[in-house]
Amino acid sequence: KSVGIVTTTRVQHATPATSYAHSASRKWYSDADMPEAAKKDGCTDIASQMLKNTDIDVIIGGGRKYMTPRGTKDPEYPADFSSRGKRKDGRNLIDEWQKMKIGKVARYVWNQTDFSAVDPETTDYLMGEFVV
Ligand SMILES: *[C@@H]1O[C@H](CO)[C@@H](O)[C@H](O)[C@H]1NC(C)=O
Repeated sequence: KSVGIVTTTRVQHATPATSYAHSASRKWYSDADMPEAAKKDGCTDIASQMLKNTDIDVIIGGGRKYMTPRGTKDPEYPADFSSRGKRKDGRNLIDEWQKMKIGKVARYVWNQTDFSAVDPETTDYLMGEFVV
């Protein structure tokens, strides 16, 4: 079976996240949104669980700022501070996701042009992260 999650919200939002995450709080989008005590107790953020728990073939939605290290400029809105990367742990989950898919074609897109150019016949995994 294949898993596809497509949403107009951020992909880490509570409703799409029910497909792949376990979290004590719906607000734990990235590690930066979590209390230190929860991290100490071994809880992990929703964005990082997207890579681990479920083998997701297609995931499309918003929320790319939760995927990149704190301060990472957004490719589409480089001057917008609120769109910059949020992660305190320095992880780039987009890069990690692509590297995990060894021997497979894993495409990451963040704009309409690249999204429209995706060939489903030759793509094994697709992540589309659009700002929300
Ligand atoms: C879409 O994303 C690709 C990959 O980052 C980039 O090379 C291209 O310039 C972008 N296109 C637009 C219209 O932003």
